[in-house]
Amino acid sequence: MKDMQAQVSRLFEERYGEGATLYASPGRINLIGEHTDYNGGFVFPGAVDKGIVAAIRPTRAEQCRVYALDMQEEATFGLSEEQKPQASWAHYIFGVCREVQKRGGQIGCFDAVFAGNVPLGAGMSSSAALESTFAFALNDLYGCGLDKFELARVGQSTEHNYCGVKCGIMDQFASVFGKQGCLMRLDCRSMEFAYFPFNPAAHGYRLLLVNSRVKHQLTGSPYNDRRLSCERAAKALGQEFLRGATMADLDGVREQISEEDYKRARYIIGEERRVLDVCEALERDDYETVGQRMYETHWGMSHDYEVSCEELDFLVEVAEACGVTGSRIMGGGFGGCTINLVKEDRYDSFVAKVQTEFEARYGIQPLVYDVVISDGARKL
Ligand code: GLA
Repeated sequence: MKDMQAQVSRLFEERYGEGATLYASPGRINLIGEHTDYNGGFVFPGAVDKGIVAAIRPTRAEQCRVYALDMQEEATFGLSEEQKPQASWAHYIFGVCREVQKRGGQIGCFDAVFAGNVPLGAGMSSSAALESTFAFALNDLYGCGLDKFELARVGQSTEHNYCGVKCGIMDQFASVFGKQGCLMRLDCRSMEFAYFPFNPAAHGYRLLLVNSRVKHQLTGSPYNDRRLSCERAAKALGQEFLRGATMADLDGVREQISEEDYKRARYIIGEERRVLDVCEALERDDYETVGQRMYETHWGMSHDYEVSCEELDFLVEVAEACGVTGSRIMGGGFGGCTINLVKEDRYDSFVAKVQTEFEARYGIQPLVYDVVISDGARKL
């Protein structure tokens, strides 16, 4: 992050002059609890040491100027609804401005330069990192007085209203609330949450991500269809959310819903149980149970929720064959990374094997990242 900070500062000065303030927000991992957020269930994410850094300075101009270092492209836009910029990356920032305004934030135009090191399309929430950075920065610079939950909602509404993804709250929540060394268990219905100190290394385990390099793109994707399936199933049950439903409840309405919606709901009901199991298992340092649940989540996401792909299934199979404790697809799905809980003594052999086997089959090496659980949105 330090290199990125220096680069962003320098470029800001070159393009727009002095006086910028630096802000940063992270991407996230999620140990377990996938697609449960918009079902009013539990999630278990943590922020990572990869994210977005932005240098921002308010101006008196009529237009914002934002330069994306990674794209080497500038977007300009005003702050009214009709002034939405062309570039799709800029929709995230424009959307944040609009959502802050809708909540009464009196913001003006600004110049900004930003860069990021969250791998794009890897299921690590690069877009939430971007949203949180700007939401946090504008709130701070203009004294809008929005609390952290509202900042997370600004990001989520940006996805809904400006980017076409009807996402839940997990990613933006994790990016805003992240805390070094801690996972967070969030109840997405009550919005109550608790920090869980998480230090697998103390027990001889490591968390690592393996990026299939199949780029996922949730916009206009089957992601929104999954959400609709869950809503139909919940409606048949006479509930607002699937949260709290049992398999017996679901079987009771099986005739009223499609086979596809039934399968989607079956996965969600199982996943709700698994998150709670994992939290309980962690309290007694039972990493074997954590790992088992991760595998169950993977195959649920693959067979019932159908958001995996051949490459990700393959990564999980290799992990299983290498004796990895737990492995599963992470995030929305349709590509991206697996998250793996690996015993220290199997780490090297797993990394070597997954790289050679994946390359032999798909002609490309997967990328491997160690997970470092880090802080959320902040001023630097
Ligand atoms: C994406 C969404 C989240 C969540 C996950 C799946 O990351 O942005 O809200 O639904 O998928 O758990």
